Amino acid sequence: MIDLHTHILPGIDDGPQDWDQSLALARALSDAGVTEVAATSHIKPPIWPNTQEGLAGLRAELATKLEEEEIDLIIHPGGEHWWCGAVLDELAQGLGQPYGQGKAFLVEIQPNDDPPLFEERLYALQRSGYKPVLAHVERYRIFDGRKGRQRLRNLVERGIAAQVNLAILGRGFGWARGGNAKKFLLDGLIAIVCGDCHSAQDVPAAYGKGLEQLRALGGDYAVDRLLRRNPASLLAGKEVDPWAPV
Ligand SMILES: [Fe+2]
Repeated sequence: MIDLHTHILPGIDDGPQDWDQSLALARALSDAGVTEVAATSHIKPPIWPNTQEGLAGLRAELATKLEEEEIDLIIHPGGEHWWCGAVLDELAQGLGQPYGQGKAFLVEIQPNDDPPLFEERLYALQRSGYKPVLAHVERYRIFDGRKGRQRLRNLVERGIAAQVNLAILGRGFGWARGGNAKKFLLDGLIAIVCGDCHSAQDVPAAYGKGLEQLRALGGDYAVDRLLRRNPASLLAGKEVDPWAPV
């Protein structure tokens, strides 16, 4: 499986604080069947002002340590961009940290926010050649309810990709966030699901119960589409094909 949302680099956000924790997370992901990840550390100045250079250095260091420890996990570039003028402007200038081939990038918004010019800015980034991937869309108030779902559908139809967190699926569908995740999936709005793991302790909830629930919803076909094919497409700068039940 390919997980395009992980906080695996140490000491630069709310993920692992040192190399031991970082390697423990890598080992847990690998043991769970994850073969490739994108290291999507937060890019959220001023608290986490991560740069391409800093991230690249840590990715290279991690790759060396993984080899030494004989952990089979490929690390791809990435970053979880915080929705704010400064970060989006830098991204548009080529100073963000997109995935693999440099087209798709992960972006998150404040869960209760309805950002001004949200759609306009997303479409502007698309016109500059980028493909926005919205992180954990089940969390966002703007996508709540029927109107919210329609708003997400409009974005997906315009080529914006949406991501759901695995652990949310494991927590059941009888609450707002779980309910959203399930509806979005069944509506065919979701391109990828990810662990969003910050430590080795996060892995069982994501790749145990969460993955089990995804399989219960859509079988191996959904797992293949959402955790293998679509993530691979985003890394390669290609289009995704959201999973929808047949
Ligand atoms: Fe995250």
